[in-house]
Amino acid sequence: MTISHPSFGTVADDRVIIFDTTLRDGEQSPGFSMNLEEKIRMAKALEELGVDVIEAGFPVASPGDFESVQKIAETVREAVVCGLARSGGKRDIEAAGEAIAKAPRRRIHNFISTSPLHMKYKLRMEPETVLDLIAEGNKASRHFTDDVQWSAEDGSRTEPDFLCRCVETAIRHGATTINIPDTVGFTTPDELQAIFTMLRERVPGAEKVIFSTHNHNDLGLAVANTLAAVAGGARQIECTINGIGERAGNAALEEIVMAIRTRRDKIPFQNRIETPRLLGMSRLLANITGFDVQPNKAIVGRNAFAHESGIHQDGILKNAATYEIMTPESVGWSKTSLVLGKHSGRAAFRDKLKSLGYALPDEKIQDAFERFKALADQKKTVFDDDIRALVDDETRDHDRIRFVSLDLAAGSKRPAEAELELQVDGVAKSAKVTGNGPVDAAFKAIGEIFPHDAVLELFSVGAVTEGTDAQAKTTVRLQEGGKMVDGQGADADTIVSAVRAYVHALNKLMVKRTRAEPEALPV
Ligand code: KIV
Ligand code: ZN
Repeated sequence: MTISHPSFGTVADDRVIIFDTTLRDGEQSPGFSMNLEEKIRMAKALEELGVDVIEAGFPVASPGDFESVQKIAETVREAVVCGLARSGGKRDIEAAGEAIAKAPRRRIHNFISTSPLHMKYKLRMEPETVLDLIAEGNKASRHFTDDVQWSAEDGSRTEPDFLCRCVETAIRHGATTINIPDTVGFTTPDELQAIFTMLRERVPGAEKVIFSTHNHNDLGLAVANTLAAVAGGARQIECTINGIGERAGNAALEEIVMAIRTRRDKIPFQNRIETPRLLGMSRLLANITGFDVQPNKAIVGRNAFAHESGIHQDGILKNAATYEIMTPESVGWSKTSLVLGKHSGRAAFRDKLKSLGYALPDEKIQDAFERFKALADQKKTVFDDDIRALVDDETRDHDRIRFVSLDLAAGSKRPAEAELELQVDGVAKSAKVTGNGPVDAAFKAIGEIFPHDAVLELFSVGAVTEGTDAQAKTTVRLQEGGKMVDGQGADADTIVSAVRAYVHALNKLMVKRTRAEPEALPV
């Protein structure tokens, strides 16, 4: 059976559409906000990765969100660019429609809660009003595009009969994709599969639309639930890079795609994802947001293809299939582990960046190369993890505030003194400050150059590799008015890495200040 869709034409029954919501559901979670340039970088990389739909943001949420969706719509040429809007929210739908207008392929995504709990306590609406808003929202959206998606927020906890009425209403008033989110990560695979099977059997018009699944990971079931939904007939998968998203996150794109690819025998579906780009994509996001994935994260974690025990290493050397169910190269890990040192030239450095999955503009490569040379002077062997830490740090967009230099005097005989130079909005500024230890002095100097009210909530330092000459990697968490951000920095000098992390967090906080999250629709 095939479906005719306004953006994708004839969609074969064995095709799954990959809908990425890293820039919307992912970006709205604590600490993950991105600035305009970072979102555009992400959108371009997502398009190269081969995602079918990029949910670029929630245009009505703030002028910044509107602008980023608009710029992504001007940039992305192949993938469908999607803007989120609340069902029936006139301003929401107009903002979404205007923001996506320049995209060759564009979608408005309407949503409203349908569960008894959400309707009663969050929306304070009667079910009939919700049905009216679904109809209104979809009709209004069709003025801007033929590609309209409707979502039943908290759909997995919605009464089946009412869910059927909602979906029927959404289809009758122009939805071409129907998404049933497990908003709170509560459902189980068999339950979710049954919901999709029921909707496809019972709702008039179901055969004309694409069903979509969107799963949160509160019980660690997001990927399993997603695959079960596909078994129940869903043909669009909503997911995020590294599984970022509200609370415990969303289903991870890289895990779903590799499950489908590795277990074709059980999950026989096609998609357009270029899997060797998965690692680079994961790294780009981690680099932009400052949140690394945990080492044991499937597919993209540092240990995902590492074999430590003798028995496993022996097996791998005899035949990699003994302990590897997919090749590291198929998801972007390189085989060679060329170690760089101070005699390595620009070409080797460039090659290394490529093999690690980085695609950087020339000026960033040049800056990173200079930092690599400085590091290689201090450290005999520069490992892959050193390069990653260094490049991740260099490519972060410290847009308003940039680290320039730090001079420190510290020790047990006198108070620590830090002389710090930063660039603030392009202007060099410096401060000389004493403190209770070098970190205190350096952070006080930042406060003197750039006064702010943010409170330091977490300060942690780790080593990138082994040995006393290892680079330090620092995380700094700042909190201001309930908004929380994490910044990261790396350097051979621990205090410089701490200052870089603090500056990164401050820059992220400034992006956050410009955003206001909208609440439920006024009644
Ligand atoms: O989790 C959810 O319900 C959502 C909707 C807006 C689709 O993110
Ligand atoms: Zn969600």
